[in-house]
Amino acid sequence: MDARDEKKAPAGQAASGENVMETQKRNVLVTGASQGLGATIAARFARGGHRVWVNCAHGVEKAGEVVAGIVRAGGEAETFPCDLTDEGAVEEAFAALEARAGGIDILVNNARLDPYLRGAADSDGAWFDRTLAVNLRGAYLATLAVFDGMKSRGWGRVVNVSSIWAQWSAPRNLIPYSVSKAGMHALTRAFAREGAPHQVTVNTVAPGLILTENAASRLGPEKLLAETASVPLGRGAAPEEIAEIIWNTVHSGFITGQTIHANGGAWMGN
Ligand SMILES: NC(=O)c1ccc[n+]([C@@H]2O[C@H](COP(=O)([O-])OP(=O)(O)OC[C@H]3O[C@@H](n4cnc5c(N)ncnc54)[C@H](OP(=O)(O)O)[C@@H]3O)[C@@H](O)[C@H]2O)c1
Repeated sequence: MDARDEKKAPAGQAASGENVMETQKRNVLVTGASQGLGATIAARFARGGHRVWVNCAHGVEKAGEVVAGIVRAGGEAETFPCDLTDEGAVEEAFAALEARAGGIDILVNNARLDPYLRGAADSDGAWFDRTLAVNLRGAYLATLAVFDGMKSRGWGRVVNVSSIWAQWSAPRNLIPYSVSKAGMHALTRAFAREGAPHQVTVNTVAPGLILTENAASRLGPEKLLAETASVPLGRGAAPEEIAEIIWNTVHSGFITGQTIHANGGAWMGN
């Protein structure tokens, strides 16, 4: 227990302008955090003094390693295995976690089905459905599972991790991914409207290329150069940079229903 545990804000206190991210320990759930950006986000919130749950469906051992790293660094974290495509499992696991943890205060919808697992020739309805089931329906179900609790406590944050592909015209192999991410922006707007009277904010962070281990090894040095050539900043983002943007988005209680574009200046115009 630390000083933050004793400082539970009464409903509505967040509206006073106090920076509750600095004064109160929050319960944070990051979906798809067994690797890549999700693992970095989890570590960032733990470093900020909050309790973190590291979700994934398959790589539970990897999620355990993420948790072990956080704990070694002095943070608080637990794994939270739950397949977001399984509605019954989401309802059950989230309800149990809500009861045990005393409510999830911050939800980062980060999980995705890796769009590069399939090439253009393998495009079909089953892949489309699987992609939307994780990326969009999974975010919807996770948000539903925590949202009423946030509203009743008068404080909450949801961040939907989208992609530059939500607004770019996708090549064949990335169509399901692009559609799923575009859908997340509609989720953000709807939940932001519903949450606003309760001091629950909902925003989208839409990154361009992130240099996760997987992205770097998928691309290799030559393709990486080609991908970054059109980015005004001339590079991809470090996962830590995007995690910091998500941290900052959550910090503010006065930004809601917005998309924060983190794409190296791809859309600054001429
Ligand atoms: N990497 C980039 O360049 C880039 C660029 C723009 C936006 N983004 C976005 O940033 C986020 C993270 O990207 P990333 O590259 O770090 O992703 P990633 O390496 O593909 O990791 C995806 C995570 O989602 C989890 N996941 C997959 N299916 C799941 C399910 N059914 N239930 C729960 N978790 C599930 C995976 O764990 P298990 O498979 O073990 O369950 C894994 O932890 C994504 O939303 C992505 O769209 C990434």
